[in-house]
Amino acid sequence: MRINEAQLKSIIDELTLDKEQLKEVASAMRFDMELALQGRESSMPMLCSYIGMPTGQEKGEFLALDFGGTNLRAELVSLKGDCQYEIVKMVAKPLVTEEYNLINGSASAEKVFDFIADMFAELLEGAENKTYYLGHTFSFPSQQTDIYNARLLVWTKEFAIPGVEGEVVNDLLQAAFDRKGLSNIKVVAVINDTVAELLTAGYQYPDTQIGCIYATGSNNCYMERTADVGRPAAIINMESGSFNKLAPSQWDNKLDEASEKPGRQRLEKMVSGRYMGELLSLTVQHLLNLQEKPEFTAIDMSGIMADTTAVASDAAKVISAKVGALEPGEAAYIRDLTEAIAIRSARIVAACFAGILWHVSGSGKIADQHIAIDGSVYEHMPHIKENVQKALYEILDEEAGAVTPMLLKDGSGLGAAIAAAVASKNI
Ligand code: BGC
Repeated sequence: MRINEAQLKSIIDELTLDKEQLKEVASAMRFDMELALQGRESSMPMLCSYIGMPTGQEKGEFLALDFGGTNLRAELVSLKGDCQYEIVKMVAKPLVTEEYNLINGSASAEKVFDFIADMFAELLEGAENKTYYLGHTFSFPSQQTDIYNARLLVWTKEFAIPGVEGEVVNDLLQAAFDRKGLSNIKVVAVINDTVAELLTAGYQYPDTQIGCIYATGSNNCYMERTADVGRPAAIINMESGSFNKLAPSQWDNKLDEASEKPGRQRLEKMVSGRYMGELLSLTVQHLLNLQEKPEFTAIDMSGIMADTTAVASDAAKVISAKVGALEPGEAAYIRDLTEAIAIRSARIVAACFAGILWHVSGSGKIADQHIAIDGSVYEHMPHIKENVQKALYEILDEEAGAVTPMLLKDGSGLGAAIAAAVASKNI
């Protein structure tokens, strides 16, 4: 066998966060949140979203755009009041296929937003004379001045479309609709996907105060009930993926150096689906002493961990598809490494929750509540849900009993429609 057990153990140790370290991360998270809220230097921008929790009485038909993960989605959503809604119609297209790539340097703002406008033309076919208000879930860090105006600060998740950073994204979107003769679509609101998730949760679980995306990217928002200079009481998009007080391993540093934006999104690069597979690739290359770096994805990781048998023959199939034939015993060791990467991710996500819960509860007790989480990693990756829960108990002791993390799917469309309803009231 090519794997040296001592070397494996040392990599796993480097990727393990114990209870004390977790508590430190949670405290540092709260500290950085509060620095940013006071307008002081912080690793997280804590962006005001200019929207609060919904009433549930929002009504009407609205368009929703979900822009930010792996797929683009155009939706027609009907809000019926009393927290009732229906996704009437949806058109979804991937951002990257074998024929086109809408996220790298070969794309352009015009090309991407025209593509989106075409999706809405397909969605509305024949109904182009009616006026529709549209809410835009844009899942990247954006500085807002109101519910419509949000300038993209910086691309994340390895997106690199030229001509969008620094721009008001809704202006780019509206211009594309106008170019395509779809001026009946009025873009009225923009929100982050975490905010969309929290708005959606507010419809069904009104005690929810935290919205989380645990997918290609990683981020949290929460309802900040205290207003401050220049900012109303509103949902705050933390951009917790940019938190930088975690101790990175040498593998995290390697990954960061080779990324589109070195030095940025350090938490996200340790936690999210876009990056975890790459961490596995780097460590496996080292362990097996491979000339070329294999290309594992988060989906491969789930496949490896789904096999819980001692011989790990199914896991071996997934691994050998990337690295060639394995020697006996190697697959189970690589599965241990995969688990270490996944479990660290879940524990960091839980530490973020604990930091937010401490901030929100101040000197009081943590209130009974749900935490709304959406995303492929939380939904599908083995070991994640139970390790989020376990780490919450390690950090919060019995107070963790007040908190129920839950998977709440497809918040982006409904959240965008709710935001459009709120914004269009003032038109
Ligand atoms: C973005 C966030 C987003 C998260 C989840 C991150 O890369 O910066 O705005 O909420 O991904 O999609």
